[in-house]
Amino acid sequence: MRIVLVGPPGAGKGTQAAYLAKNLAIPHISTGDLFRANISQGTPLGVEAKSYMDAGNLVPDSVTIGMAEDRMEQPDAADGFLLDGFPRNLGQAEALDVYLKGRNLKLDAVLDLEVPEDEVVKRIAGRRICRKDSSHVFHAEYNKPKAEGVCDVCGGELYQRDDDREETVRKRLEVYHTETEPIIDYYKAQDLVVTIPALGKVAEVTQRAMSALENGE
Ligand code: AP5
Ligand code: ZN
Repeated sequence: MRIVLVGPPGAGKGTQAAYLAKNLAIPHISTGDLFRANISQGTPLGVEAKSYMDAGNLVPDSVTIGMAEDRMEQPDAADGFLLDGFPRNLGQAEALDVYLKGRNLKLDAVLDLEVPEDEVVKRIAGRRICRKDSSHVFHAEYNKPKAEGVCDVCGGELYQRDDDREETVRKRLEVYHTETEPIIDYYKAQDLVVTIPALGKVAEVTQRAMSALENGE
């Protein structure tokens, strides 16, 4: 299956993607995680991306689209993938369509995680991620690690993301409304969008998403 996950910052895309990708046996491809891995390795791409991310802006398409396509070309993505955080504007959505069409492939579904804004603010405020792998995500209150400050998955140190400061979060939400929300209508026109109410326990949301995919809604 080829699936796109959309939703505001802090909606739980990364959290759900980890479970959905495992259940569906497809790789979880997060452009945010790819950028953070480049930042921690100090690559030129990471250095360029960091300034945009810290300001809450999108990294330019000229960098992002190539990076996402390189990742989709990896052998583990040959039979499907779950895209998290890509595409994030109309230009990226159109580029993805061209990429897929050129390979005779298509998307199966776009899952839109729906969460009220006051809840995403709470989720982001308590988020702690792993220094070794930013796809290991916890919450100080809602999704506590077994030992405080330590990643359950790999033992790495947990910390707060630089772009989770309040003023940056406000900017990210604004960018989501102006740049990313339009892709939902773009995919509605292709009849691909399934809205998933994303309040409630992590496992309940996963269940909703899995049944939506199984029922081909
Ligand atoms: P990215 O890393 O993609 O961030 P985002 O889209 O803002 O999403 P988040 O990671 O903030 O949230 P999430 O929805 O994954 O929520 P999570 O599962 O962590 O992008 C960061 C930056 O990179 C962008 O601002 C941009 O600069 C750049 N970038 C990335 N992709 C790009 C692209 N395509 N083009 C251009 N630039 C790009 O959950 C949040 C918290 O809530 C966690 O603490 C979690 O434990 C908790 N939680 C999750 N589910 C629940 C639940 N059901 N109940 C209670 N708590 C929950
Ligand atoms: Zn970890």
